[in-house]
Order: sequence, then C-alpha cells, then structure tokens
Amino acid sequence: MDIPKRYLSLFLLTMFITTNADAKHSVPVPNGPSTTGSVFHPFGKITVEIINDLGNTLALKYHCKSKEDDFGKRSLQPGKSWSFKFHRQFFGRTLFYCSFVLPNGRYTFNIYEDHRESAGDNWCQKCVWKIRQTGPCRLNDVTKQFAICYSWNKSLY
Ligand SMILES: *[C@@H]1O[C@H](CO)[C@@H](O)[C@H](O)[C@H]1NC(C)=O
Repeated sequence: MDIPKRYLSLFLLTMFITTNADAKHSVPVPNGPSTTGSVFHPFGKITVEIINDLGNTLALKYHCKSKEDDFGKRSLQPGKSWSFKFHRQFFGRTLFYCSFVLPNGRYTFNIYEDHRESAGDNWCQKCVWKIRQTGPCRLNDVTKQFAICYSWNKSLY
C-alpha cells in the first residue's frame, strides 16, 4: 500500500483508534474448546481461559475487567472453564484483571498483561490459567504443563 507521507500519521492514528475500539468488543466465550495454537500472531486475537482448579467441590466466584470491559460477577463449577477473546492494543497496554473469591479470602490477579504474556518464551496466544488455592498457574504451550505459577498476594479481606 502506498501512502503519501503527509497522510501517514493520519493513517496510523486511524489504525490506532480502530484497534482501540476493537478492544471494547471483547466477547466472553463460555466454555469454549481448549485448543492451543503454537504460532504467535502479534495482531491476532488473544484468548484468555480460566479453569476452576480449586479442588473439592468448590465453586469459583470471580469478576474480570479491563479499562473498557466488565464481564460481571461470575461463577465456575469445579473443573469448568470460561474464556474471553480480544485484540491486543498497540504499545503493549492491554491489561485484564480478575478478582477471585477463595475459601480464605478475595484476591486480585492481572490475568493478562502484555509485557508478561508476550515476553520471550512465555508468550501465549491462548493463555490458559488454572485457578488453584495456592495461586494461578498458566499453561506452558511448549511443555503442555501448568508450570507458570504465581502465589496469591495480599487478600482484599
Ligand atoms: C504478586 O506480586 C508479584 C509482585 O508484584 C507479582 O509479580 C505476582 O504476579 C503477584 N501474584 C498474584 C497472584 O497476583
């Protein structure tokens, strides 16, 4: 595509606005199938999936948001999963965060952070998290193990 120089910044601005607008149309995909791709598309859609792995018969109550999106308060039965999709924003600013109600408190976690999920060997196009009582663990696409684990920080109550 040939774009005259004086239109280039306008073109980029339009691209930017379009991309940002896209992020507002993130749609939850209830219990979508678990398939993992292995090719990273920087501008492709990202899927974030969470799985209730609390154990026993505990339901997982959670609430996920970004600056533009609010998926509302939800609940997952044991072993069940829920996911949403979105387009990454330019300049690595995409951030989705969730709060989780566990037996011993309520915790928040950044379920998708651009700089964490697109860095080095740790990138994910489909970012699958098991939510455990000890913390969230993400699937490593290469080893197929839920080995990228974090500990819960301070409880909100
Ligand atoms: C706890 O805090 C550390 C340091 O800020 C952060 O890297 C980690 O993701 C946090 N864990 C959770 C589960 O939020």
